Parts: sequence; structure tokens; C-alpha cells
Amino acid sequence: MLNFFSSKKSNQNYTNEGNIDLKNIPKHIAIIMDGNGRWAKERRLPRTMGHKAGVEAIREIVKECSNIGVKYLTLYAFSTENWVRPKDEVSALMSLLMEYLKKEFRELDSNNVVINHIGDISKLPQVCQQELINAYENTKHNTGLVLNLALNYGGRDELVRAFKLMHEDIIKGKINENDINDNTLSNYLDTKGMPDPDIIIRPSGEQRLSNFLLWQCAYSEFWYSNIKWPDFKKENLHKAIYDYQNRDRRFGGVKQS
Ligand code: IPE
Ligand code: IPE
Ligand code: MG
Repeated sequence: MLNFFSSKKSNQNYTNEGNIDLKNIPKHIAIIMDGNGRWAKERRLPRTMGHKAGVEAIREIVKECSNIGVKYLTLYAFSTENWVRPKDEVSALMSLLMEYLKKEFRELDSNNVVINHIGDISKLPQVCQQELINAYENTKHNTGLVLNLALNYGGRDELVRAFKLMHEDIIKGKINENDINDNTLSNYLDTKGMPDPDIIIRPSGEQRLSNFLLWQCAYSEFWYSNIKWPDFKKENLHKAIYDYQNRDRRFGGVKQS
């Protein structure tokens, strides 16, 4: 199989076309993969063709993130609200995502990628759940990029699930409610143990979160673009990272001069 990553664990052969600072790569990049439907509409194609092109666009971005040393890449693939779409569109989307996993599994694994998921996958079709669990179980010991596929993910749903789990632990006496702080809650989220996203990228022109990583994005930088997700390439990722690297993140403090 063709190995499209530059090397398993380092980025020393990497050519930096976008002039980004390879020493200041965001640890966690999160992307709302939006615009598949409009991409298809512009081409007079059915929406599912947009989703097919959208799933294909994932490959290049995962590869690039791995090559430049991003540690976490979270891709919003299906929200808790997307179930209201026509049944055919939902099942086509699920099939395309599972095909992606099957097709790319060996390559991702051999390039040290952990294939993780976030969201309530118990509501997904059984075969999808199994595919996601297997992908995680077989890659969890890898040490490279952690690819989080957000499926049936909603920030509010994640918080509700977290509160329920935390409540159970209070009743069992595992935690004391007086000790609850920001970190306690973070530890009940699907992103437990991961750093918050440094940058949230949304292509397609929309400038909203659509229920993505509500707790985790407290200090994330936002980056929007009119490009539809199926057209989103390595160069666009570089532009987002370049802009991110030129922002001033103050976290409530004052700029050091
Ligand atoms: C993103 O593309 C994929 C999902 C939300 C599942 P859309 O299907 O939302 O594309 P637009 O927004 O209609 O163009
Ligand atoms: C957000 O896109 C969800 C995903 C990309 C998976 P949507 O297309 O569902 O968001 P809205 O409806 O435009 O807010
Ligand atoms: Mg959309």
C-alpha cells in the first residue's frame, strides 16, 4: 500500500509551503466539516455526492496534520441535530464514513494514528458502533496523531451525559460536590485527557458553532472561510494555522510587550 505520510514519527522531510512556524503548531485542531450540500448543489449533483467528496477531503487534512505534528484533530462529522435530515441522506453519510474507516484503517494505523470517536455512538447503527470501537481498540496504543471523529456529537448532549455521570459518582461517594471545579467536569467529557482545541476551523461561510465543543472552546481561536469542505485542501489548513500563529492569545491577561 502506498504510504502517503512523510514518515511514521517525524516531520523532518516535510516541505513547508505555507510558511507556517513548525515550532508553534496548534496541539488540537477542530474542524466543522460544513458545506458538502452546497458544494454538490453548485455542481447540480445530489447532496450525497457532496458528502462523498467531503469524506474524500478528510484524507489530505489528516495526512497534513500528522506530518506537521498536530497532536489532536477533531472532525465534526455528524451532529445530534443532523438526524432530522432525510433518512436516505443520513444513511448515505453513515455508509460513506464507515467506508472511509475501512479503506483508510491500515494506512492510518501504520502511520501511528489513534482512531478515536467522540459523541454518543450508542445511537448509531450497530455496524457503525462496531467499526468505531474496533478502529479505536486496534489503534489506541499508537502514539501519533489522535483523530477524533465526532459522530452523533452535540456539545449540550455531551454536557448532559457528563452531569449524569458526575451525579452518579457524587451519590457513590467517589467525588465530593464541594470539590467540583473546571477540571472535574472536563474529566467527564468525551474529550477527557485532551487539551482544549486551540483553533476551530469552519469552512462554508457559516459563522456559528452549531453545538460543537461548547465547553472546550472557551479560549479557542475561530477561523472561518467561504471554501466548502470538499474543496478544503492542505493550503487552506496552512492559511488557518498561519493566521492562528499571528493571533494574540491573552487568556484574559495582558499582552507582554
Ligand atoms: C456538512 O455538510 C456535513 C454534515 C453536516 C453532516 P452539509 O450537508 O451541512 O452541507 P450544507 O451546509 O448543506 O452545504
Ligand atoms: C454542523 O453543520 C455539523 C457538522 C458539520 C457535522 P450543520 O450543517 O449541521 O450546521 P447548521 O445546521 O448549518 O448550523
Ligand atoms: Mg451544513
